[in-house]
Amino acid sequence: MTFDVDHVLAEATTEELAALVCGSGSWHTTGIPRLGVPPVRLADGPHGLRVGEDLDYSEPSTCFPTAVGLGSSWNPALLKRVGEALGREATALGVDVVLGPGLNIKRSPLCGRNFEYLSEDPFVSGSLAAALVYGMQSVGVGGCLKHFAANNQETDRMRVDAVVAERALREIYLAGFQRAVGASQPWMVMCPYNRLNGTLVSQNPWLLTDVLRGDWDYRGVVVSDWGAVYDRIAALIAGLDLEMPQADGREAVVAAAVESGELSREVLELAAERLLSLTHKAVTAVRPTGVIGHHDLARKAALESMVLLRNDGVLPLAPGARVALVGEFARTPRYQGSGSSKVNPVELDRLLDTLASRREVTFAPGFLLSGDLDDDLIDEAVTAAELADVVVACLGLPDAEETEGSDRTHMRIPDNQRALLASLSETGKPVVVVLSNGAAVEVAGWTEETSALIEAWLGGEAGALALAQVLTGEAEPSGRLTETLGVRLEDYPSTLMFPGETGQVQYGEGVFMGYRGFDAMEREVAYPFGFGLGYTTFRYDALKLVETGSVVTRDLRVAASVTLTNTGQRAGAEVVQVYVRNAAASVPRPVRELRGFTKVWLEPGESRTVTVALGIDAFAFWSTPHERFVVESGDYAIEAGSHSRDLPVAGGLRLDVPSLPTPLYDESTIAEWFADTDAMDALQARVLARTGERFELGEEMYAVVAGQPLRRFAQFPGGPLTVADVDAVLAEYGRPV
Ligand code: BGC
Repeated sequence: MTFDVDHVLAEATTEELAALVCGSGSWHTTGIPRLGVPPVRLADGPHGLRVGEDLDYSEPSTCFPTAVGLGSSWNPALLKRVGEALGREATALGVDVVLGPGLNIKRSPLCGRNFEYLSEDPFVSGSLAAALVYGMQSVGVGGCLKHFAANNQETDRMRVDAVVAERALREIYLAGFQRAVGASQPWMVMCPYNRLNGTLVSQNPWLLTDVLRGDWDYRGVVVSDWGAVYDRIAALIAGLDLEMPQADGREAVVAAAVESGELSREVLELAAERLLSLTHKAVTAVRPTGVIGHHDLARKAALESMVLLRNDGVLPLAPGARVALVGEFARTPRYQGSGSSKVNPVELDRLLDTLASRREVTFAPGFLLSGDLDDDLIDEAVTAAELADVVVACLGLPDAEETEGSDRTHMRIPDNQRALLASLSETGKPVVVVLSNGAAVEVAGWTEETSALIEAWLGGEAGALALAQVLTGEAEPSGRLTETLGVRLEDYPSTLMFPGETGQVQYGEGVFMGYRGFDAMEREVAYPFGFGLGYTTFRYDALKLVETGSVVTRDLRVAASVTLTNTGQRAGAEVVQVYVRNAAASVPRPVRELRGFTKVWLEPGESRTVTVALGIDAFAFWSTPHERFVVESGDYAIEAGSHSRDLPVAGGLRLDVPSLPTPLYDESTIAEWFADTDAMDALQARVLARTGERFELGEEMYAVVAGQPLRRFAQFPGGPLTVADVDAVLAEYGRPV
């Protein structure tokens, strides 16, 4: 049964519309039964559905790798399949909208929710989030991008004010959302708890209306994070359509505000109309039969999530190898994080079982999950190592260190695991370390003690099966880092300012965040952004650039092609990454920025020409005075390769664009005026007509005063120029302040 949106809007009372924009219970919208509008059901589910009233129990559903893993796949086609599967599971559980994916930028490795986020780079985050939403929505279930925006920490998350310059917002913190909104038109966007530049995001009209709907043409519903609304009326006016969960008496507050004139009925109707349209989509969606249970897809996703960081040749494990399998995580897998994304998996693989069915294995737990040191456990593990050919040590972070609601204070693995590893490496046996963690850990201090290192992230319910396949060489590890692994926490660009103080966090590193900052400061890293090995090797040849269209007509396209050859003995995957650099810009720009990528599978010896298309946005930066993205004239380098610090093929491109004068205003400097020839001609004409002379500055004087606002310079006595001249020209050529 369906309903007509316009009819409902015309017939509904103010009270009914007010109820519609306020949730019902924890997980439903409020329908209007009298007019045939049913409630819509929402559920968490960035990497698996969580359907249940509380955190302790939810209906079983497939637990895919968490976003850190899915992101590391660099594979939109995979994310689309996972999205479809989540949609089918949502259908089976009666859910209409899945509250995910999360695509906040990993500003600091300490953020407790980094496991739920895709990358430190907005191009990766936006592309992959779009693919996941596209997959869900292709089977008739809505997706919800969250948490929009600047929710990059858990410390004080309900109140903290993120102070972020507009350029950093537009280029980094909003850019992924912009890409995903444009590419997938999600049914919902979730606003977070925090403040942005002084205003609660739930009450921020600039972000929720001007940017999201105005600049980006978003047409869906904005939902609050659970409990993010403080002032419901201010939130409605700002553009927040749906408050979740139900808050006592809110409908009455909204209805009374319409009655008193504090809230216009049009604003309420607009929010209600968006909710009705979403409900209509849910009611009329053609959904394939719901299915719970996608273990094999979860395994494939885990294979693509795993990042092989180091391998001296010990992997894949030799067929007859006797393995000492050490570490509690082999028996008690760490496969997802804590908080609202926690799912109850359908089944759960353990490496203890999956590896034991493939190799001769002796298990020793090696450490206590509590973090306490136990010498007996270490001794037992060392004995097992001495009797084996190779050690596989399962290390990582304990559950409690990675959760929604709190951040970490350091990025080390627990000391008892570190002690275990030191003892294992002293045996002289090759040690393969497998890490299970959702946020980056410091590896530089002990990488040398390993023969191989696999960052397995939080691999979901089938992660251990995928791991056994990778360890034995049945399958390739094909993940790549979507975040830089710094040598030390102190090296990260945001460290001094994270998580802020007295309710405020300054994003002082600006756009120089993640690899953009590490590269600008030429800082050594443990493993660079984009890095990851496989069991084969690749060669890059001959970058070719084909340019069509132009910046002026806004249809510039650059097709960057490389020839890629699998030079090893095994089939394998490579993520071809394309970066753009613009050294001589008028604002400081990152050394290079990722602007395109594609994942390719090649047989041994196979060569293929791989093309990555770059659009105009690949060359643009946010110009704060112009209030838009601009492309400047200049030389651009386009580099391609396997990660941000290995880009063997490069080409150059020159773009010529008419220069854009900086819009003048009352505080524009003398240099800015001289750069705007039209305004300057008008000014000189006025001065000449009145005084018979032009406004001139000698070279030396110009150097002294070029940085002074012209209007204030005109206040000085004696010169030909007056404030009235400046104001007259500003009235014609200036921008409003
Ligand atoms: C989280 C959201 C989640 C919501 C509902 C909040 O605490 O921040 O990501 O969707 O709860 O569980």
